[in-house]
Amino acid sequence: MTVESIVDSEAAGPLLAVDELFVEFRTRDGVAKVLNGVSYRVEAGETLAVLGESGSGKSVTAQTIMGILDTPPGVITGGEVRYHGENLLAASAKRRREVRGSGIAMIFQDALSALNPVFTVGFQIEEQLRVRRGMSRRDARKRAVELLDQVRIPNARDRVRQYPHEFSGGMRQRAMIAMSLALDPELLIADEPTTALDVTVQAQIMDLLREIQLDRHMGLILITHDLGVVAEVADRIAVMYAGRIVEQSDAVSLYRQPGHPYTQALLDSLPRLDLKGARLNTIKGLPPSLIDIPAGCPFHPRCPRVRDVCRTDVPPAHRPAAGRLSACHFAEELISGE
Ligand SMILES: Nc1ncnc2c1ncn2[C@@H]1O[C@H](COP(=O)(O)OP(=O)(O)O)[C@@H](O)[C@H]1O
Ligand code: SF4
Ligand SMILES: [Mg+2]
Repeated sequence: MTVESIVDSEAAGPLLAVDELFVEFRTRDGVAKVLNGVSYRVEAGETLAVLGESGSGKSVTAQTIMGILDTPPGVITGGEVRYHGENLLAASAKRRREVRGSGIAMIFQDALSALNPVFTVGFQIEEQLRVRRGMSRRDARKRAVELLDQVRIPNARDRVRQYPHEFSGGMRQRAMIAMSLALDPELLIADEPTTALDVTVQAQIMDLLREIQLDRHMGLILITHDLGVVAEVADRIAVMYAGRIVEQSDAVSLYRQPGHPYTQALLDSLPRLDLKGARLNTIKGLPPSLIDIPAGCPFHPRCPRVRDVCRTDVPPAHRPAAGRLSACHFAEELISGE
């Protein structure tokens, strides 16, 4: 990289910045306010884990970034998604297709439905290389084998000719990772990539993602509902609740001293190795209806620390400590351990 291009890329801002994103789903039952001002950013070479219970808006945020949100029923009512400073929400359909795959790529929880069952795994990787990179059949095949090798699929030379259903769950997930890397994306979004796998395979896939991310100096957004899965790989964590980021922090500080009662509740619900057989604390109550989000702090009906002000005043996102963000009225108390 030349000095000029480094200066240019710095001037253009971070790799990805999601800024005050608002999304609604207009359904027969009413308007569901699914994203309510979501902001986060990811730098090159950084892993951001996006954490939250099912329905908190993690996937909708990812779909909006990728430009694959169902519209309708989804409507983007505000915000920006900036890729190197360029607002993708204002970009043409052609530009969005260019960025998809080669700028930002995505892998999903369910590799079986993301891969096409009627084509071999190799064909699906090679097709991208031929169409988007103009590679010959032969070069594309060679590259597909290299990619399958890189994600540690044994006998890649033979496997490349097999169909997705001939792969085990873990191997399919590896194949999908290989496919997502074909166009050398700068940012990879992994949406619950290990949720459908058993624990041992989960750990292997996480290690693989981490290794690839370090090796390629890629940005990685790891979406999960399980704090345990991301503990060792995340640099920073953004916690989502009811379509908002309620806490954002470097991973170490967040695990040491959460700055939001919801994060604390997620930590308390992790299985504990030191209390074998102990019952898990689940978070009491249910996530709110997004058609009728509670007034004040959306977490207040479930919060063990709720006070009067929480029922009326929406807590603004603020910095209770350097490098940390929380949307709890009492974040300072939590972080100082009062
Ligand atoms: N196509 C859709 N139509 C209507 N509602 C949707 C659609 N996709 C997502 N939603 C709603 O948006 C909310 C957030 O969903 P999602 O982002 O998938 O949650 P998460 O990934 O955090 O589990 C949920 O309440 C979900 O029901
Ligand atoms: S603002 Fe109040 S209800 Fe919301 S998380 Fe903080 S203490 Fe709990
Ligand atoms: Mg999801």
